[in-house]
Amino acid sequence: MLKTIDSLGDLAGKKVLVRSDLNVPLDGTTITDDGRVRASVPTIQRLLDAGASVIVTAHLGRPAGAPEAKYSLAPAAARLSELLGKTVTLADDLVGESAAATVAALQPGDVAMLENVRFDARETSKVDAEREELAAELAGFADAFVSDGFGVVHRKQASVYDVAKLLPAAAGLLVQNEVESLSKAVSNPERPYAVVLGGSKVSDKLGVIANLLTKADRLLIGGGMVFTFLKAKGLEVGTSLLEEDQLETVKGYLATAEQTGVEIVLPTDIVAAVAFAADAEASVVAADAIPADRMGLDIGPESAELFASKILDAKTIVWNGPMGVFEFPAFANGTKAVAQAMIDSDGFSVVGGGDSAAAVRLLGFDEDKFGHISTGGGASLELLEGKVLPGLEVLEA
Ligand code: 3PG
Ligand code: MG
Repeated sequence: MLKTIDSLGDLAGKKVLVRSDLNVPLDGTTITDDGRVRASVPTIQRLLDAGASVIVTAHLGRPAGAPEAKYSLAPAAARLSELLGKTVTLADDLVGESAAATVAALQPGDVAMLENVRFDARETSKVDAEREELAAELAGFADAFVSDGFGVVHRKQASVYDVAKLLPAAAGLLVQNEVESLSKAVSNPERPYAVVLGGSKVSDKLGVIANLLTKADRLLIGGGMVFTFLKAKGLEVGTSLLEEDQLETVKGYLATAEQTGVEIVLPTDIVAAVAFAADAEASVVAADAIPADRMGLDIGPESAELFASKILDAKTIVWNGPMGVFEFPAFANGTKAVAQAMIDSDGFSVVGGGDSAAAVRLLGFDEDKFGHISTGGGASLELLEGKVLPGLEVLEA
């Protein structure tokens, strides 16, 4: 059982350090999908309502352990401020003079944000003592810690893991909700249990595929990673994304699936384009006839129907990773078909992964029609893999 905010007792007048995941996609300084900022609001609001002041710590991107303007949390602070309807003061640094002064000035009901926690190399250090030192500096700002950045709970990092050992700590509302919803799919899925995997790389999903081959009833594969599967089956994939070094592994998966009786569903047709561009000339070809000079950028219409049929009568559906390059309208149909089938199915549907969650919103689907939309990419995958996540383990009562 994860410790709850209630276990922290009376928070009136206390300073609470909250780890949020505000790692939003940016176009310059414009947030293109604010889902993670919105998801961070309930916990912060709850703490403010309890009379606490809140210090938000978060990361953006993967800066190399030093400040870099393009990774500033300023856009996230501005958006959070709008959503909360109150000023969110962003410190210029993480644990330096600006942060100390900002924290010292906090009154009950105030919200401050520290600059990108990955501007400090100690955050992601593999050396325990280095992380612990940063964690102690962060802990020095607050009376309690609330871990609410679900998207980072699979990271053993100072602001996620180590700091939770130094202060009274609890899981925030987002982390609790994510863990409850994903557990429904992981621990005891109602069957048929269908998993739809996409995204560009097989190598990102090795652990989860291996695990699902023992748990799921159907595995539907699309996205860039599907070409490594098609190639493993002996098909030619033209200039499509291909991970040569994963071919043997994928052949192993296909063999395992035969033995365990897991149905692996691959596309039968592909939208093949002459280049990677929104307006690239493209046509639908059979999956076993991809021209040598073309790249697959989406699953084809026949495959979209096939995938939808495998989703519609499933009782549990988990989806991670887009079926094609959905950012380009011409290559968004496979992803749309999967999203629509999840909505139409009366099974419990879980969307995991930053990209698929963003796809659902950018393509205009109603988020409320899904059982659960996760804010976590790697974190939700690792939960599906059945791994113990350091950022959750440390919050156990
Ligand atoms: C994410 O975007 O998946 C999370 O914010 C974690 O980021 P990371 O993969 O850079 O640790
Ligand atoms: Mg990631």
